[in-house]
Amino acid sequence: PRKIVIDTDPGIDDAIGILLALASPEFSIAGVTTVAGNIGIETTTRNAGRLLAFAGREDIPVFKGAAAPLLRPGPEPLNLHGKDGIGGVGLPAPARQPESRSAVEWLGALLLKEPAGTVDIFALGPLTNIARLVLDNPDAAKRIGRIIAMGGVIYEAGNVGPRSEFNLWADPEAADVVVSSGLPLVLVPLDVTRRVRATREFTATLSASGKPLASMVADLIESYFETSTHQESRPLHDPCVMLFALAPDLFRLEDLRLKVSTGSTEQAGALTVDESGTPVQVATGVDGSSALDLLARTLASF
Ligand code: BDR
Ligand code: CA
Repeated sequence: PRKIVIDTDPGIDDAIGILLALASPEFSIAGVTTVAGNIGIETTTRNAGRLLAFAGREDIPVFKGAAAPLLRPGPEPLNLHGKDGIGGVGLPAPARQPESRSAVEWLGALLLKEPAGTVDIFALGPLTNIARLVLDNPDAAKRIGRIIAMGGVIYEAGNVGPRSEFNLWADPEAADVVVSSGLPLVLVPLDVTRRVRATREFTATLSASGKPLASMVADLIESYFETSTHQESRPLHDPCVMLFALAPDLFRLEDLRLKVSTGSTEQAGALTVDESGTPVQVATGVDGSSALDLLARTLASF
């Protein structure tokens, strides 16, 4: 299996992505690093521990990361993910505490210990931790296999600004550091994640499997419906990172040169395709129904 680190702000869709990774024998999860985003750092860290406890995988360590963006106060928690950030679903309390080392320190040590190019980072939240690694420990950052990040939007409207997606908007300076670092990066933007949508029917199929992870994901999606006026279907943003890693052939990839808008304007976190930008691989299309099938099949196998 491929060694991965999940950097995350759970988050309902983060939680679904984490459960998908736990159900996938293709991945060996070295650790989960947390970041403030959907909700504050204490809650995202606890939620990561709750998910691992639920799956019986508390052998996987959790490392607390950035409490706020690189240069600005943290965003107000979104109300999209419920009070506890994860839809109030029935997850156990973690038995294992988060580790005492910080996320960035541990990640740096891991990358220096493992052979270069063998650890991938799945980034599901604001890019603060990864930017810190690039800035503070560039020798370690250079050894990342690749970063697959849910974030941004290329051809469509944003979800928090006219052209801005939440993860890049929440810490645009960090996004700029990561994108312009030139590290191997696959971006999975809203253009794709909006096309991998859970319907009520999909949710019912998951519960009907009777399998624990699939049923938990059904509960998470149900709670995701409760926080929205959109009752037809809900987009599964973060799991698209895992789905891309599992089945790249389901996605269309474009090589684009990208720039990230920084600062405190309404364009913060917006991406522009520009000759002078940094080359990034961007997923711009997906076979949504095959992606959903893969998600359901993998969850039901656990
Ligand atoms: C991203 O923002 C968060 O609310 C989700 O967890 C996802 O990572 C989508 O824009
Ligand atoms: Ca997220």
